[in-house]
Amino acid sequence: MIKVNFTVNNRAITIETHPHTTLLEILSTKLSLFKSKIGCGNGSCGVCSVLIDGEPINSCLIHAIDLEGVIVETSEKIEGEYPQILKAFENFGGVQCGFCVSGFLVSAKAILFSEKIFTEDDIRDRFSAHICQCSGNYPYIQATLYLLKNKNLLIKNR
Ligand code: FES
Ligand code: FES
Repeated sequence: MIKVNFTVNNRAITIETHPHTTLLEILSTKLSLFKSKIGCGNGSCGVCSVLIDGEPINSCLIHAIDLEGVIVETSEKIEGEYPQILKAFENFGGVQCGFCVSGFLVSAKAILFSEKIFTEDDIRDRFSAHICQCSGNYPYIQATLYLLKNKNLLIKNR
């Protein structure tokens, strides 16, 4: 067992766990954060994405031993702070069964608050780490592009 200290959604966390417990397991079993889901479990579907130090990462591939000192943001925090992202996904025809959405939210936040200027191709490329089996990735790409062009809509909720 190891003790690890890190931050999740602005909350300082200390846990004792096996070094190879995944962050995805920690989120659900120790912190009751269930929006990052298990899909493929091997880094191919993006449904478990979180931000670590601002970068989108598949939480199914990150282990407790890698977490000391990092800052984690989950889709719970992102959706609460920027509900406009989910709204845009809905307006562009995404969010049908909802399974993939938390992953897209996480990647969209990273794109929208990046210092890099993302083009449509860049967004498509970034979202290739995600799979929406209902609508395909197109609505999420278009919604994120729309928000990039209308950043004034991104007012922090809390
Ligand atoms: S469950 Fe992590 S990438 Fe698919
Ligand atoms: S909305 Fe169903 S998988 Fe994306």
